[in-house]
Amino acid sequence: MKKKYTIASLFSGCGGLDLGFIQAGFEVIWANDFFKEAVETYKYNIGNHIVYGDITKIPSSEIPNKFDILLGGFPCQGFSVANTKRSMEDKRNFLYKELLRLIEDKQPKFFVGENVKGLLSMQKGKVINMIVDDFRSLGYNVEYRLIKASDYGVPQHRERVFIIGNRLGIKNPFPKISHGLVNDLYNNSLTPYLSVKDVVGHLSNIRTRDLPFELNGKTVYNHVARTNVSDNFWGRKHQVNQHEICDYLKYWRNKSGWSTKKIDEHFGYAHTAGHWFRKDNNSGSIPKPNDWWELKKILGFDDKFDKIVTEFELKEIKFEQSLRINNWELPSDTITATGPEIHPNRERRMSVRECAIIQTFPDDFVFFGSLGNMYKQIGNAVPVLLGKKIAESIKNALDEYEKNKSKRNRSN
Ligand SMILES: C[S@@+](CC[C@H](N)C(=O)[O-])C[C@H]1O[C@@H](n2cnc3c(N)ncnc32)[C@H](O)[C@@H]1O
Repeated sequence: MKKKYTIASLFSGCGGLDLGFIQAGFEVIWANDFFKEAVETYKYNIGNHIVYGDITKIPSSEIPNKFDILLGGFPCQGFSVANTKRSMEDKRNFLYKELLRLIEDKQPKFFVGENVKGLLSMQKGKVINMIVDDFRSLGYNVEYRLIKASDYGVPQHRERVFIIGNRLGIKNPFPKISHGLVNDLYNNSLTPYLSVKDVVGHLSNIRTRDLPFELNGKTVYNHVARTNVSDNFWGRKHQVNQHEICDYLKYWRNKSGWSTKKIDEHFGYAHTAGHWFRKDNNSGSIPKPNDWWELKKILGFDDKFDKIVTEFELKEIKFEQSLRINNWELPSDTITATGPEIHPNRERRMSVRECAIIQTFPDDFVFFGSLGNMYKQIGNAVPVLLGKKIAESIKNALDEYEKNKSKRNRSN
């Protein structure tokens, strides 16, 4: 039997990324997290190799010396490069240094880091550049990409940054996009996106409950859900008549001599201004307060609608309004760690199982902990299928490298 490539995994959570690698044929020999319930979930479903504890307190000597790949979706709240002179003022900012430490100490062939999209814009790109430079200084060839999970067959438009590095002197492999819009004229080789309905439609009329139950010959675990479906949001204080505002803005735009294109350029938008002046089929939109004040500066209009457009108050979302929050016929919005979406056609939030399915966890993957903790583990995770696709591309690259190496050895 062919030897399996081995993995050490930091910030493993309940194991979404690790499971993807396992499904692609890798073996995880060591993992770590300090989130108790996530570790419990990991142990039950994946294995006892996970160590519960704070990684900053675990010396390298307690971690195996030999593994091929290091994984780590490092947290990055409040990164800062400027004001701390890279000191450890907020220790959480620098958890990627734990990846650096292990790369330096253990020299894996590849490493894979994962993070939120916001990492790319932090400090105008300085943060990601600092991280990449730090990895490169250890002699690794490093590349990062923003990856949208739905493009790889996950029923969710989740976007995350993946940083891959290797010390083999080869190009970093990233998986090829396989899914897209059905009517994408430019790319008809793609499989249509999976929708929320495709994957969790069968649970929509099934009442939630604490205990597992049988459905169509399969056991359904964790079909439990928060039932608070009301929430607060900042809404306009006054009734706004969109047609009236559009006519008004159009009048002032004509008077000022600004073209819609020039207004878009001024704001740095692509097609937004067109919507402010359009009233035809209700496809227009009313400017946000900041945009309104800026428009006022350039078009010079009077105060007639200032209050109506810019005054907001905290309102309660009614269930009927929240129905529109999730996309039943499309891939889901991002499943987050803080709280799930409201179910598109039930008076409850998405259940833990529904979130897990959208995150492509297998049906028999069981979660442990309080309701909030289960939602958190799932929202934190890399979709298993996306992990698997990334793993497969790395596996192919490693196989290719090994093949070429033995060819080189034979010819020497
Ligand atoms: C984004 S989640 C990673 C999820 C994981 N990649 C997956 O696919 O399921 C980040 C994890 O880092 C863990 N973490 C944060 N600081 C840590 C520390 N100092 N030591 C160990 N784990 C830590 C958190 O508990 C959390 O589970």
